[in-house]
This record gives sequence, C-alpha cells and structure tokens, in this order.
Amino acid sequence: MDSELARLASRAAEQAETIKALSRETGIADSSLHDAINADPDESYKSHPNDKEKKYRLRQWLQENQTDTYSGPADAERDPQEVTRETLEVRHPADKMRSGPPKTEHNNEDPPNPHITGRVAGRQNEDRSDVVSRQRDLYARRREKERARRRQVVRFDYGPVCLAFQGDEHYGNSGCDIDHALRDAELIASTPGMYAVKLGDFVDNFIVNYLEGKNAKPSLAIEEQWMCAQEHLDILSGHSIAVVGGNHDGWSRLETHLDPLRRMVGDGVLYDADQIEFTLKIGSQVSKDVFLRHQYSKGHSQWNETHELERAAKFDHPGRDIYASAHDHSGLHMKVFAMKSGGYCAAIKTGTYKKFDDYAQRKGYPQYENEEVAGALTIHEDGTMVPHHSLKRASEYMQKFYE
Ligand SMILES: [Fe+2]
Ligand SMILES: [Fe+2]
Repeated sequence: MDSELARLASRAAEQAETIKALSRETGIADSSLHDAINADPDESYKSHPNDKEKKYRLRQWLQENQTDTYSGPADAERDPQEVTRETLEVRHPADKMRSGPPKTEHNNEDPPNPHITGRVAGRQNEDRSDVVSRQRDLYARRREKERARRRQVVRFDYGPVCLAFQGDEHYGNSGCDIDHALRDAELIASTPGMYAVKLGDFVDNFIVNYLEGKNAKPSLAIEEQWMCAQEHLDILSGHSIAVVGGNHDGWSRLETHLDPLRRMVGDGVLYDADQIEFTLKIGSQVSKDVFLRHQYSKGHSQWNETHELERAAKFDHPGRDIYASAHDHSGLHMKVFAMKSGGYCAAIKTGTYKKFDDYAQRKGYPQYENEEVAGALTIHEDGTMVPHHSLKRASEYMQKFYE
C-alpha cells in the first residue's frame, strides 16, 4: 500500500511540474490547465466560460512543440506531455502518417476488412476429416494385405512334391513356340505330385506407347495374346500353386490400372504382379520358404547366370530356401548351393519359349537353342531338393513315387 501511495504521489508531483512548465510556456494559469487536462468532460469542464479559448491555445502550443519520434500510446509516468496531447486529441505528424486519411464518422482505429460470402478458396472449405479417415482406412487395409503376403503357406500332407518352374511364353510374338509351351504345361498337369510355378511374361503385350513400334510386325492382337495365356492357364487348372506377373504382362496394369492376368489365374492360386513369397510345407517335417520374382533388379553377372538369385539369398532377401526368376531369356539355369549359415538353397532361372527373338537379333544378344525351357525341383520329405533340367525326366522321376 505504501508503495502505491508513493507511486501516486510521484505521479502527481510529475504532473504538477508538467503543468507549471506548460503554464510558463503558454501563459495559461496552472489551475486552468489542471482543469482542462483532468476535469470530467461531462461535468465541471463545461462550466468554465473561457475553457474554449484556453484549450485552443494549449492545442496550438502542443502542435508547435511536438517531437519527431512516436513511440505508441503515451505512458503518463514517463511522458505527461504526450498524455496531454492524447487527452486533447492533438494528432502527432507520425500518427497522421500511420493512420492515413482522416477518420470517418465510425471513428475506427483499424481499416475495414472485407466480408466475402460464396465459393471462396481456403482451407476452411476442406473436409479434411473425411480425407484423413479414408487415408487411415487405406493404410489399414494395405498393412493387412502386406502381412497376409508374408503368411502365405502351401501345404502338402506328404511328399515328395515337384515344383515345375515355367515362364516367358511371350504369346503373340511370331517367335513363340506355342506347342512347346503347351506341351510342357500338359506334362506338368499330367504328372502326379508336380505343380506349376509360373514366372511371368505370358504375353508380348506391346501396348506401351514408346514400345508400340516394336510390335509393328504382324503378330496376334493383344486380346488374342491373352487368349493363348488363358489356354495355358486352363491346362494347368488345379495343377499350379503360384503365378507371378512379368514386365510384359504388367504393361496392361500400368496402362489401364486393370490386371487381366489376376482375373485369369484360377481361384486358390497364389498371385502377385511382382513378387510372391510363401512357405512350402510337406508333411510334418519339411518347411521351405520360396521367393519368386519375374526379375531381380540387382546382382546380374556375365559369369554366373543365377548370381542375382544367390545375391538375394545372401543380402536383400535372405533366409529363404528356394529362389526363382525368369526374364533374361538366357536359357535354363539351376543350382543348389550351400549357405554359410547352414543348409542349402536352390536357384532356378527359366528360359523362354520365344525361340526366335528379333530384339536379341538386332542387339546381337545370344539366342539359346536348348530344348529345355522349364526347370523342376523335387522336394522330398527329408528336405532334400533334387533339381531336374529336363521336365520329361522330372515327370518320370515323380511317376516312380505315385504310380
Ligand atoms: Fe520375357
Ligand atoms: Fe521379362
């Protein structure tokens, strides 16, 4: 309380000093200046007959003695002269510059803001809650799908079981040996315990704009190419366990957002346009993790045709037992190799049924004339894996177990 009284006393003393100074400068009596500054405008201030004259002279003096600086609303304790100026509404030059044209009858401190109605732009019109909700649902479904990809299992009650790997038919291309491709499919379908693993590029499918020129030569229409693929898949109906798409098949999906191959693969068969993983279980003892892609993007070697598969086994996708791919059209290559961590892996890269390849001819790439295109791998109940580079011999091998 004492400090408050002291503050008020100090303020009163300062004001008295200011009024004395103003009185000396303006010639107006102290008491009149005090009344002009402090009086209630609704009461006593109106009662002085000479107030108008005094107030006019005080305004004149304040206007003639303004400082150049403007530091915002006056603080009575620091600048009583400025307080007096504001009380009497004597405008400072800098204040005029800040506030622009004379005030209107509304006497507002701030300029007016527009009030706009209609289809205006801006975030307030976005229904973000709906979009966020849909994004959340999308992710939940995608996450469940990805988890399901890693839980895929193909189970056989007993063995042995033979996986027949086949790809790169390229139906529609004049160099495609359709009889060979369908004969192999029929052999797979008729062999007990043998099941197809399809590795993509069923069709030539040159529908991509920048590749259409390559399809200028007479060949089957796109629809007819897919009809051949359907013929192939129908032969394997009930005798295939997985189908992965190739880059040629995938062009339809890229161009149209529709995947014809997915619709053609039979119910109950694992399918993906790019990559399939599943665990092959045989009896109660054998469990082999299988990793399928039409092609691998890294690790190719001119010295070892299955190098990218072996690299995947050691680096990018370790821990699986069987790796397979196609795409290179470099003949059939199969290998069972030991892992440092123990056990054995199998790598299978299939050849192509496109026996005559204009693209390879133009580029000077080697063309393989080997009879074998598909490869087979028999997995026994003790876990041993027996590769067959002859589908016919693999068929005979399996018939010994089941006939
Ligand atoms: Fe191919
Ligand atoms: Fe390919």
